[in-house]
Amino acid sequence: MRTQVVDHPLVAHKLTALRDENTDSPTFRSLTDELVTLLAYEATREVRVHPVDIVTPVAPTTGVKLAAPKPLVVPILRAGLGMLDGMMRLLPTAEVGFLGMARDEETLEAVTYAERLPESLVGRQCYVLDPMLATGGTLAAAIHFLTERGADHITAVCLLASPEGCARLENELAGLDTPVTIVTAAMDERLNEKGYIVPGLGDAGDRLYGVVG
Ligand code: URA
Repeated sequence: MRTQVVDHPLVAHKLTALRDENTDSPTFRSLTDELVTLLAYEATREVRVHPVDIVTPVAPTTGVKLAAPKPLVVPILRAGLGMLDGMMRLLPTAEVGFLGMARDEETLEAVTYAERLPESLVGRQCYVLDPMLATGGTLAAAIHFLTERGADHITAVCLLASPEGCARLENELAGLDTPVTIVTAAMDERLNEKGYIVPGLGDAGDRLYGVVG
């Protein structure tokens, strides 16, 4: 597993505003959208392309085109949905699959409650959208889900990551042949006793969409 913390002043600037408890939901949503587009630029560095011949108004030349099969973008519901538009802005021809996963607040383990994905992901590059890599349980479960269907290249885009979550992922993905890359705006200090990232930004789903009971 490779972890890439995107080091860019605009990423740091937008992340600071996201973290601020005084940032309201509409602003939080648009900052998330902008931040994900910046992260997506790094996350798609290894997207597969093939050469194509074209003719410009001046001369023939060779360029590249996204290869088939199309990349699959997989937001993890609910909070990952807030990252979808920002990702699709850079990959408008990608397909989208959905994974609904929630964290059991007592065990802190991931529970899958919804799934809408192609039966076969053989040969597919998958981009998983999960804002908070906290305990790593949800992301590990999502990555296993995708590789069991045949995904052969996985990139997870996270707004924030914790050292504990990354260590757990390293451990749980140790036997996996599929390359996995985590792209994040920051590696925070730690998790607190409730499994929240510190300093973090709070509950990403609640800050995007409001509190549900
Ligand atoms: N999920 C969140 O939304 N925030 C955290 O800090 C941890 C998990």
